[in-house]
Amino acid sequence: MHEIEKIGVLTSGGDSPGMNAAIRAVVRTAIFYKIDVVGIQEGYKGILKKKFVPMQSQSVSKIINRGGTILMTSRCPEFKEKEVRKTAYDNLVNAGIDALVVIGGDGSFRGAMALGGDFDFPIVGIPATIDNDIYGTDYTIGFDTAINTAMEAIDKIRDTAQSHNLVFFVEVMGRDAGFIGLNTGIATGAEVTLVPEIMTDIDSLCKYLVVERRKNKTSGIIIVSEGGKMGSAEEVAAQVKQHIPDYSTRVTTLGHIQRGGSPTCSDRVLASMLGYEAVGALLDNRKGVMVGIHKGEVTFTPFEEACSRHNQVNRDLYEVTKILSV
Ligand code: ADP
Ligand code: F6P
Repeated sequence: MHEIEKIGVLTSGGDSPGMNAAIRAVVRTAIFYKIDVVGIQEGYKGILKKKFVPMQSQSVSKIINRGGTILMTSRCPEFKEKEVRKTAYDNLVNAGIDALVVIGGDGSFRGAMALGGDFDFPIVGIPATIDNDIYGTDYTIGFDTAINTAMEAIDKIRDTAQSHNLVFFVEVMGRDAGFIGLNTGIATGAEVTLVPEIMTDIDSLCKYLVVERRKNKTSGIIIVSEGGKMGSAEEVAAQVKQHIPDYSTRVTTLGHIQRGGSPTCSDRVLASMLGYEAVGALLDNRKGVMVGIHKGEVTFTPFEEACSRHNQVNRDLYEVTKILSV
């Protein structure tokens, strides 16, 4: 079996806080095992453009606390074409890179699965996305920071909601997963939390709000997770306004502030662990897998499974949000 001498590391897809901590862990673990390590800038695009940067221990100094990714990231739709991946493979081989660590979300793992499968190239993935929607790990890097950022923002919105008797519809990210919505909903004491996985219709939402008003609750926070059937926060607010015209409503879309900022302690620890384990996995000749942590244990999930299955939001927690928001 060909021994691994040089590892490439890249970040791909949407950035998430803690990606830098993961890069740092990959670089320093590789150096510990006396393996060369190359940073690939701008994700899969960077392989095509040969944006390869040799990394030393100092290349990753003072980044553990920084959001974003020092390697930059990108979406690279052309990577879905096999001949484009052939160019990528040739560029990797010509640069002497014989294994890859891909830090990203499920889309990035689909890319890794395709590249690794086409050319039998060793790749290990590290789950990093604020959405927490990747099967095979309890938490993804960036999720904890994102929910804390969202929680702090919603706490501030609550001050204005109460001072002006307003009902705020606050949209949080998550693509089509409700993890950010559910966790911020319970943590901010939101009156209503809408998540894509659990159907709510406009009539039952309005009935609930009318009952709330009878209880003299005149202000409130309604969390609208993106990807839900009822639409964006703007659309949900407009529908409520049609049913209850005298409601004073405001809409806030938290947007990309959820993706940035200094990672929390949990995200830094998770990223450090997963970066270390990813390099160890390659040296153990593992390939085509994502490293994760499930119930405190390190796990290796084939990309195919990580991409095709989904973590489920905790329905018990959803029931708790309803009970506690009376
Ligand atoms: P994330 O990794 O955050 O889910 P994306 O879904 O945008 O982000 O995927 C990141 C990149 O992964 C894409 O821009 C593309 O380069 C690559 N990718 C996604 N799906 C595939 C696929 N089916 N085949 C090859 N590459 C893919
Ligand atoms: O996957 C992370 C995420 O922030 C999702 O929550 C969101 O749906 C999407 O990326 C937004 O992507 P973009 O920055 O390309 O609009």
